[in-house]
Amino acid sequence: MSGRLAGKVAIVVGAGQQPGDTIGNGRAIALTFAREGAEVFCVDRIAERAEDTAAMIADAGGSAFAHAADITQLADIETLVAAALARWSRIDILVNNVGVGSPGDGPSHKATDDAFDQVFAINFTGARRLTRAVLAPMRAAESGVILNISSLASIAGANMIAYEISKAALNRLTTATAQGSASKGVRCNAILPGLMDTPMAIQGTAARDGRGLDEQRAARAAMVPLKGGMGSAWDTANAALFLASDEARFITGVLLPVDGGASVRVG
Ligand SMILES: NC(=O)c1ccc[n+]([C@@H]2O[C@H](COP(=O)([O-])OP(=O)(O)OC[C@H]3O[C@@H](n4cnc5c(N)ncnc54)[C@H](O)[C@@H]3O)[C@@H](O)[C@H]2O)c1
Repeated sequence: MSGRLAGKVAIVVGAGQQPGDTIGNGRAIALTFAREGAEVFCVDRIAERAEDTAAMIADAGGSAFAHAADITQLADIETLVAAALARWSRIDILVNNVGVGSPGDGPSHKATDDAFDQVFAINFTGARRLTRAVLAPMRAAESGVILNISSLASIAGANMIAYEISKAALNRLTTATAQGSASKGVRCNAILPGLMDTPMAIQGTAARDGRGLDEQRAARAAMVPLKGGMGSAWDTANAALFLASDEARFITGVLLPVDGGASVRVG
């Protein structure tokens, strides 16, 4: 443990992961923050997923607590923030990692109203309400960091218009929050992961695209400009660690692609 987040209290929402043979962004962020000395409040809609992440942290000698919450429910958001404050009396870091796609999503002439409603409720409104909820204690403390896990799809075509616009809205929430709370010492930044080798990106899309897992990996790797193919959740976590740490004390309102140069080519 090198202690870049020593003594910090971090809420990671979406700290579990969907099944797969690699690690997801939220879990990698939670493990990385704990390794660097943070106390991590692991939140997920599925209790077992949050508990698994907390157990992995404990096994590695870190400190974590699991909490079940569905961020589409305002009462769940209020309860989770109250639970963190009851335990630690402060919140130093919030990571809004939850994000989903929808089978009804697609190009703008096809995406359904249901897809827009579902994706916006989770990807944007959930993060917006969580942001508002933690801003009260952070602004009062005149300190805090909010990190939003957006997507390369917020700035480049991915043929999923509801997802793309929900993440573009999250980007604007990021810059608006940075501007609105800078004078209170609160920083807010976003990470835009690109083509990552995660369960969400591989297991979550292979069937949709009619490919096996190896074929899906190869197809996505070939789309990355930087030598080496896809990124991993650890690349997202390393960027999150830097932005959450005091090393980034002068950085706010940034939308940081972590994408092997994909945004330079297509964004
Ligand atoms: N994985 C990628 O390749 C990739 C690329 C670009 C952007 N992203 C973004 O990264 C984030 C997620 O990455 P991941 O790898 O951790 O995904 P993941 O799906 O493996 O994990 C996300 C977790 O969020 C939880 N969750 C879903 N809905 C919830 C809700 N309503 N309330 C609380 N928890 C809920 C899930 O149970 C899951 O455990 C998303 O914001 C996604 O849009 C991912």
